[in-house]
Amino acid sequence: MKVLVIGSGGREHALCWKLRQSPLLKELYCAPANPGIAQIADPVPIPADEIHQLADFAADLKIDLTVVGPELPLTLGIVDEFISRGLPIFGPRRQAAELEGSKVFAKELMRRQGIPTANFEIAHSEDDVRKAAARFGFPVVLKTDGLAAGKGVLIPKNAEQLEAALKTFFEERRFGTAAEKVIVEECLQGEEISFISLCDGEHILPLATTKDYKRLLDDDRGPNTGGMGAHSPAGVLGGAGGEILDRILRPTVRAMEEANRSFVGVLYAGLMLTQEGPKVLEFNVRLGDPEAQPLLMRLDEDLLPVLASGAAGRFEHPRLRFRKEATACIVLASEGYPEKPTKGEPITGIEAAMQQEGIEVFHAATATKDDQLVAAGGRVLNVCASGPTLRDALKRSYTAAAMIRWPSKIMRHDIGRRVLNRAGG
Ligand code: AMP
Ligand code: GLY
Repeated sequence: MKVLVIGSGGREHALCWKLRQSPLLKELYCAPANPGIAQIADPVPIPADEIHQLADFAADLKIDLTVVGPELPLTLGIVDEFISRGLPIFGPRRQAAELEGSKVFAKELMRRQGIPTANFEIAHSEDDVRKAAARFGFPVVLKTDGLAAGKGVLIPKNAEQLEAALKTFFEERRFGTAAEKVIVEECLQGEEISFISLCDGEHILPLATTKDYKRLLDDDRGPNTGGMGAHSPAGVLGGAGGEILDRILRPTVRAMEEANRSFVGVLYAGLMLTQEGPKVLEFNVRLGDPEAQPLLMRLDEDLLPVLASGAAGRFEHPRLRFRKEATACIVLASEGYPEKPTKGEPITGIEAAMQQEGIEVFHAATATKDDQLVAAGGRVLNVCASGPTLRDALKRSYTAAAMIRWPSKIMRHDIGRRVLNRAGG
């Protein structure tokens, strides 16, 4: 088969790496790719949001399956465009992608279906927000309605911080029209996990559990980011998997079908494991980045027929198998991330790191300049490892991560630490 992957991050590098292993694969393309992906797939210089150009490319090359990594092309309607032209693609249509594209849509759907989530109100003005915040008490969670690259959530702890947050949303308009409606919600306490599954409109194939570390600094301090590390298994789920399927994922997929927004693609529930059980923080309609990297390293199936059958409307597989071994991913970023990362510094040590046992290095924001690999954005590389236990996988990732260098490299040093401490292993 000829396959096109859309995107250029660590998640897409891991997707290409996994699809490469399929005996069914004949040709692999990636648009727009990055230098790491270009070693295993043909790079196509079309940006991920140029959905018409991408469809032209897929039609010209008679691509058998397109797999979409990031959310933006999905919310722009890439799947509708491909389907209208008879081109097979795995992902949700624009109206189904609203589950991520509009948090108001997602929250209202959950409220209607009785799906457990934080109590909330929708505010249209600064005053609405102040009133709702007074009802919920501090800390209170404020979210923009639309996409904000994982950065549209603020959690003021007092009145002063609330005023500062209102300024960002309504005066500076930092998030543009994404913040015309603000969701004010109750702040949930507990452990956060990512529960990611594949859907064909009706059936749900849960992936293994993963945990992502969203804050920039150790001990969950600093600003929210796209994610600074992840591991699988999550190690904190206990027996909640069945409850998550029955109370959250199945009713969501059913409600989407009833609303004529049948959900095909990756359904990612960001959850808080609270004292009252799992509650939804958000839905995403694509694989998490960096969660995809450890997940795809553990997946013990040929991914290509899974995605191709889902795109055709019905999975061939009743369930997906994952290896027993654990996997981990440490994100190497550049100083200044997430606001204004330093760019252009040469990177050394990748080859030596890759020779270590169980290691894969997936590229994100890298570029080549004068034949030299340089850091070219916020999240630069993903150093991933598998190992017999979570402790081994994390240790291997950190040993390899230390071998890779550039002057502004930053990373978290505590990925997985709390989970290991709690497990006592
Ligand atoms: P979201 O983009 O909705 O996942 O929010 C980003 C991050 O903000 C989440 O990963 C949580 O860490 C935090 N967050 C979002 N909603 C809540 C909530 N209701 N209570 C506590 N933390 C939250
Ligand atoms: N790592 C979180 C996300 O992909 O949304």
